[in-house]
Amino acid sequence: MKHIAVYPGTFDPVTNGHIDLVERSLRIFGEVIVAVAENPKKAPLFPLEERIAMLQAVTANYKNVAIEGFDGLLVDYVRKKSAVAIIRGLRAVSDFEYEMQMALMNRRLDSNIETVFLMPNVEYSFITSTIVKEAASYGGDVSSLAPRVVVEKLKKKFGK
Ligand code: PNS
Repeated sequence: MKHIAVYPGTFDPVTNGHIDLVERSLRIFGEVIVAVAENPKKAPLFPLEERIAMLQAVTANYKNVAIEGFDGLLVDYVRKKSAVAIIRGLRAVSDFEYEMQMALMNRRLDSNIETVFLMPNVEYSFITSTIVKEAASYGGDVSSLAPRVVVEKLKKKFGK
């Protein structure tokens, strides 16, 4: 039986750290659904459709990866997809508090769904979408931190 995992996030935009996590997840699970949250509270730089399109472009050559948008409660979405686990990345201790809260809340909402934390390659341990956007907005070179399609989109967005 194929075990399905959902890797949720805002992905505004997808970084090399996210891709590293997708690859690690594929070593454990038969299928990985990257679930892109609309997340209006975070006022994303890229609209949902663009975030999905960028992820689709960078995962086009991966087998057993699907990209979807979702809204509402994550556990409801995970159940709907018959997935068994939620994947989250843990980069540093600073991620831990928020991630633990979220994992335990999700467990309270549905005790059958496990959260699996994966550590990205140390090379990506400092990357966040926020820091990539910040650097790009001032014309910084982010080509080693995000896929090419994302770097181009950021250049266009910030006119740099
Ligand atoms: O990449 P992010 O912004 O850290 O991802 C956060 C995300 C989208 C995983 C989280 O906000 C989420 O799960 N949102 C859906 C609503 C929900 O179920 N929240 C958690 C339990 S209250």
